[in-house]
Amino acid sequence: MGLLALKRLLTTRISEAQYRVMAKLNLIGLGLLIISGGAVRLTDSGLGCPQWPSCGRTTFVGPLSLHKDVEFGNRILSTVISILVVLTVVAAWRLVSPRTDLKRVAGLVVVGVLAQIVAGGLVVKSHLWPPLVIVHFLLSEALVGVGVYLVWRIDHPYGMDNRVVDKKLVMLARGLVFSTGILVVLGSTTSGAGPHGGSRGAARLPISFRGISEAHATFAAYLVGLIVATMFACLVAGVSPEILKRARTLVVVTLAQGAIGYTQYFLHDPGYIVVFHLAGATVVIIAVLNFYLGLFSARKPVATNVPVGIQ
Ligand code: HEM
Repeated sequence: MGLLALKRLLTTRISEAQYRVMAKLNLIGLGLLIISGGAVRLTDSGLGCPQWPSCGRTTFVGPLSLHKDVEFGNRILSTVISILVVLTVVAAWRLVSPRTDLKRVAGLVVVGVLAQIVAGGLVVKSHLWPPLVIVHFLLSEALVGVGVYLVWRIDHPYGMDNRVVDKKLVMLARGLVFSTGILVVLGSTTSGAGPHGGSRGAARLPISFRGISEAHATFAAYLVGLIVATMFACLVAGVSPEILKRARTLVVVTLAQGAIGYTQYFLHDPGYIVVFHLAGATVVIIAVLNFYLGLFSARKPVATNVPVGIQ
């Protein structure tokens, strides 16, 4: 089916509206991969398939078992989403009006997916060595970030995007993006020290789970503070209702993610809650990037009604 779609794509031209649908599906696919990858780790199925890319020693699929099915299911999903990624990339070359900027971003998605396939193989070969599992996870979140950027770039041709708020608010939002990145790295390090190594007896990072969880939670509290400050700055700056809506969404999803984080921590980290924390982390990343990119518009910059003092 992927080949048929590819053949069709190579003989037709697509509009930016059609490409926007593909890019959004691509983003959803990349998000789903994080949850299915997390399900592998949280069900101890990381070594469900002793081989890579096959799953059985004698047959490609291998005998039926929960861990094998979860891991192999994740590999099938990865293959399907990789096909979607390839179609999204090829489509960037099939646009009615050529867009070099979209080709570049789409190319970045391919590089990310290829790096993920290699990282995934190395994770299995290294028997789930925690630093490699962390890299594998962070790459998947970075791919989601590129996916958000691709969707945004469609309506903001390169060189046409202008900030529509004052510089200080853009700097604050950049601080938010950077801080979220640090929080996600701290989070995956927490997972690297936590009880869910992906397979019974898998190595753990030689650091205190309690200590790193508290560092992670403290940084999360700082991020919530920064988001509330940004929200306040938006109100003072009199930004557009659209930007305000994105800021509100950010406050809500981050508070919800924090609540999930504390719940899982005080319930001793049950896998069925961690999977929500994983999904929540991805939603926070999308919301932060959506807020930041929302500060730029393809239109000419408009004068904001900010009192001179704040400029
Ligand atoms: C509000 C923003 C937060 C974000 C964006 C966030 C993000 C993350 C991420 C990305 C992971 C790694 C998931 C993985 O590798 O599979 C993680 C793990 C974790 N987080 Fe958070 N987190 C947040 C808040 C909190 C809070 C407030 C706590 C409270 C203690 C917390 C506790 C944990 C724990 C215990 C883990 C390890 C779960 C495991 O065993 O895999 N998080 N977090």
